[in-house]
Amino acid sequence: MADTSSTQSALFTLRQVSRAYGGSRRSVTALDSLDLTINSGERVGIVGESGSGKTTLTRLLVALDTPSSGELLFKGQPLPHKGESLLNFRQQVQIVFQDPFGSLDPRLSVGASITEPLRALRVAGDPRLRVQELLEAVGLPTHSEMLYPHQLSGGQRQRVAIARALAPRPSTLVADEAVSALDVSVRAQVLNLIANLVNELGLTLVFVSHDLAVIRHICSRVVVLYRGKLVEENTTEMLFTHPQHPYTRELLASIPRLPE
Ligand SMILES: Nc1ncnc2c1ncn2[C@@H]1O[C@H](COP(=O)(O)OP(=O)(O)OP(=O)(O)O)[C@@H](O)[C@H]1O
Ligand SMILES: [Mg+2]
Repeated sequence: MADTSSTQSALFTLRQVSRAYGGSRRSVTALDSLDLTINSGERVGIVGESGSGKTTLTRLLVALDTPSSGELLFKGQPLPHKGESLLNFRQQVQIVFQDPFGSLDPRLSVGASITEPLRALRVAGDPRLRVQELLEAVGLPTHSEMLYPHQLSGGQRQRVAIARALAPRPSTLVADEAVSALDVSVRAQVLNLIANLVNELGLTLVFVSHDLAVIRHICSRVVVLYRGKLVEENTTEMLFTHPQHPYTRELLASIPRLPE
């Protein structure tokens, strides 16, 4: 496959980005000197075992957290952390979390949940019309607008979380274990939904999973984290056929084999 990275523009640039938690005596380095570029239009998978730093990285990418050291740029500029420029950034970069129960406000109806970011980010247009469009896009009946999170299944809740993330028409979607909590059959449906929406809307995708099989399905490039360090990155095809790092080989060996 041709390397198109030179023709794409860098969306995120990370230079020696580290994030440590805790004081100096009991400090945990969750991310250690990460160098990474994510180009516009790419579908980048972030894989690694529990505690390898995946969520830490996504929180930095969506400006929910800041690096302890190093440089993190979006379109060549440092990530904003307040004011108009932060609203503008949030309109462009949205996130879907693992637990749709936790990320949806139980007191808000589906319709209110989806329109909330539109209001917060001051996005123009008729919010009611947008809710209908989005429910259709994520495969939910239009009357779901009136329902509350506890009245929905896990898969339906995750569809609402996706609709909510897409509401401000972002260019980039970050998904942190977005399908991991779902039953296997529902997982495939929601994964296909994300893949289709990313294609249709031409989104840049950063997709975090501890499951390489899921990443293979949806990503064009894979980044492997191990104990906070980037140990390998490659196109999905090359990573699966020619893994370099022993840890990547270990991860690949743990994927259950499907019949050819
Ligand atoms: N708020 C925090 N305070 C202290 N330590 C933290 C905090 N958040 C994460 N860590 C630590 O940083 C490391 C990386 O955590 P992170 O949540 O990024 O891993 P992860 O790859 O997302 O794991 P999982 O697959 O379990 O979601 C872990 O050692 C974790 O305990
Ligand atoms: Mg995590």
